[in-house]
Amino acid sequence: MAEITNASFLKKFQDFYGVPAAAAAQAPGRLEILGNHTDYNQGFVLSCAVAQTTRFALRPVPGTTCRLIDFRDNARMLFDISDLNAAPDRNGSRYIKGMVKELVKRGIKSITGFDAAIESCVPLSAGMSSSAALEVAAGYALAQAFQIDLPKVEWARAGQGVENNYLGLHTGLLDQFSSIFGKKDAMILSDFRTAEVLRTVALPPGYAIVVINSMKKHNLVDSEYNTRRADCEEAAAILQKLYPGVKALRDVSLEQLAAAKEKLPLRAYRRALHVVGECTRVMQAEKLLGNGDVAGFGQLLFDSHESSRVNFENSSPELDYLVELAHTIPGCLGARLSGGGFGGITIHLVKEGDAEVYAQRVGEAFKLQQKVFPEIIICSIGDGARAIPVEK
Ligand code: GLA
Repeated sequence: MAEITNASFLKKFQDFYGVPAAAAAQAPGRLEILGNHTDYNQGFVLSCAVAQTTRFALRPVPGTTCRLIDFRDNARMLFDISDLNAAPDRNGSRYIKGMVKELVKRGIKSITGFDAAIESCVPLSAGMSSSAALEVAAGYALAQAFQIDLPKVEWARAGQGVENNYLGLHTGLLDQFSSIFGKKDAMILSDFRTAEVLRTVALPPGYAIVVINSMKKHNLVDSEYNTRRADCEEAAAILQKLYPGVKALRDVSLEQLAAAKEKLPLRAYRRALHVVGECTRVMQAEKLLGNGDVAGFGQLLFDSHESSRVNFENSSPELDYLVELAHTIPGCLGARLSGGGFGGITIHLVKEGDAEVYAQRVGEAFKLQQKVFPEIIICSIGDGARAIPVEK
């Protein structure tokens, strides 16, 4: 496929609608590097925006009808903004309609009907947050077209609101936040209590993150995600009674959790152990990377996966197999599932020069067992969301 550029995207819009776009924006997918299921526990995450982005362009039209084309498959969609309370459609327009709904909820009255287009190279349903990228790209384009001025973090919250309020998925803020605040060539260390980027953390020079997709997502992902969140809340509520000052799992230390083990149902204890362990590992990772200890950082990625597998039970046989291969095929310093889990992607930390060969070997070994060659992306870290200039 020819590389998509801002110019080629805007031209496609004009060719399709016969008029130029009035506003456009792009937002990247994201990778969760370390800090699994910590965001809604008010914890810490190391993440980055990827170079793969979603672009969204639009032109306001009179009335309340919104037409949408997705250039990936040329699917055409239609919705009406006078009808925001209807159940979400099953197609991609639900992210856009959900965003409009979130904005209206925030008192924005300027939005009218529009003609819009989507283009994206963020892999779908893989754990790289293609839906957050679409929500944020649409939000930023709507902001230009209808003069909506919100703080950046509020755009992230609006995108999260689409998932939480419109689609019934109780996700945290990580995906939209990383898509907005990502910085080229760096990871961001974020605090999800205060919803701020604490620092950027450089990936060790000479190393790359390879994304390997397990090609499977089990179909109860959404409900499993919600039950994990409920388990965490149950654990936090019990720990709160034992330790005054605990507001969320983020406030609990590994020592406190160990001392409270007998007071927690085993499942809640294990979920909490994963989250508290992940918060601890994120902070260790920052220190290790600061000292140039790449091997130590890699080990934390392996530890994170093991904790997902055993404690949080959000891994899958395919994800476990990919991480097992990372242990046996030379060249990988650490690997883990990334994102919600239950399928989706793994990330592998390797020397830049070895990335291609390593990924190929993992792919071939995976294919022998799984009968499918996994999608592989040698990841570049991109910048966060931004408007795309259009000619006025
Ligand atoms: C999904 C959610 C995020 C976060 C991760 C797990 O990507 O959308 O909010 O909880 O899972 O860390």
